Amino acid sequence: MTSNKNLNSIAETYKTDKFEHGYTKVYEKYFEGLRDQRLKILEIGIADGKSLLMWSDYFKNSSIIGIDIHEINTEEKKLDRPNIYIHQGSQSDKKFIEELIKEYKQFDIIIDDGSHLAKDVKKSFELLFPALKDDGLYVVEDIQTSYNHFFGGNPFDLKYSNSHMNFFKQLTDSLNYQEIANPFYIEKEYDGKITNISFYHNMIFLRKGNNDVQSREVIKHSYEDMKFIEKSKRTGKKLQYFIKYKIFYKTYTLLLFVFNTIKKLLLFRI
Ligand SMILES: C[S@@+](CC[C@H](N)C(=O)[O-])C[C@H]1O[C@@H](n2cnc3c(N)ncnc32)[C@H](O)[C@@H]1O
Repeated sequence: MTSNKNLNSIAETYKTDKFEHGYTKVYEKYFEGLRDQRLKILEIGIADGKSLLMWSDYFKNSSIIGIDIHEINTEEKKLDRPNIYIHQGSQSDKKFIEELIKEYKQFDIIIDDGSHLAKDVKKSFELLFPALKDDGLYVVEDIQTSYNHFFGGNPFDLKYSNSHMNFFKQLTDSLNYQEIANPFYIEKEYDGKITNISFYHNMIFLRKGNNDVQSREVIKHSYEDMKFIEKSKRTGKKLQYFIKYKIFYKTYTLLLFVFNTIKKLLLFRI
């Protein structure tokens, strides 16, 4: 055991590539204050088990749960430790992930170092996010595969392809969903459920939490409605502000909405 060393030193001991990729330096910033706690940490992708051994040493009071699509020989890889739990299955297999959640209930940290294919990264996030604790962290490694068509990514359409990078980029809007001044906005799955997303070179950290803060600019996604209430209350000039905000500005917003909907339809973006 190397339990008193910092994460970089433990990573070097086990020769995990998380060190040479520069990941452990970032991980240490997030995990330093957590290392003595009793956490449930799930890592997707075991391979030789090097990272599981590293987490097992670093988080000595925690349960380290590893999953892999392939069978893992725990004896050969020296993974027979009291705080390591291994399961075989695919990260995008709904039934397998549901069984896993049934067994462990909730996770404090989830790390995706599995197939790195867009479809798997997005599917396992969708399946596992509900089982991530409040204030828990979801980490995705090796996001460079998003930029490489030989790995299921798309380097030719960076903004609008179905890559996993784009999936997480779009989630940044869920951080501010309540500010979107579109009265026709349809709320999305992760709106209000994420408090932070940080992008590093080839890795993403996402923190789950309640982000249902009320907007100061819009009411139910309408700037016009907010301004009408605010101004008519303050001045008593109801008719004047009704014409300005409820008729004139609303028409302007409606025209912009229609224009953008047509634009998106023409560009096949709906
Ligand atoms: C990069 S390696 C994991 C390395 C390990 N986390 C470490 O840092 O030492 C990726 C692993 O993901 C596994 N894998 C690939 N596709 C998977 C899937 N759909 N579900 C679960 N694991 C998968 C592979 O078998 C491989 O062992």
